Amino acid sequence: IERTFSMIKPDATKRNVTGKIIDRLESAGLRVVAQKRVWMSLREAEGFYAEHKARPFFGELTEFMSSGPTIVQVLEGENAVAKNREIMGATNPADADEGTIRKDFALSIGENSVHGSDALETAKREIAYWFSETEVVG
Ligand code: GTP
Ligand code: MG
Repeated sequence: IERTFSMIKPDATKRNVTGKIIDRLESAGLRVVAQKRVWMSLREAEGFYAEHKARPFFGELTEFMSSGPTIVQVLEGENAVAKNREIMGATNPADADEGTIRKDFALSIGENSVHGSDALETAKREIAYWFSETEVVG
């Protein structure tokens, strides 16, 4: 059994669709084993997205992620990392498949409603960034 890190971004909390998004995750067989609502600071966003520091959209990304509340989560399930990426759909909603979260909820490549770890190692680091071990209850 695998764990991945997931985030529901400020564009989705703003539109009050977090429950609808969590339903997609649960319906696909993923289990929420940790969850909290966080309004991250710009510094926290910069730390979380440090790997993207050199990208041209880094400022826009970190400002957006600190512009309102997010839901941070740990999801558990078979192949949780890959499964979550599949349910989320492509980064740009214009490229996302029918039935994916980003196809149905994302507004743009920046305001794309959800984040999901891209590999197991990344998941470990991202989970540890937001949660202590005792907060994850499988
Ligand atoms: P995450 O699950 O959020 O990591 O998305 P991803 O793995 O599909 O995309 P990637 O890691 O390449 O980029 C991280 C995030 O940066 C994306 O989810 C977008 O929110 C944002 N992003 C990527 N490209 C652009 C862009 O061209 N413009 C803006 N404004 N944001 C972008
Ligand atoms: Mg990524």
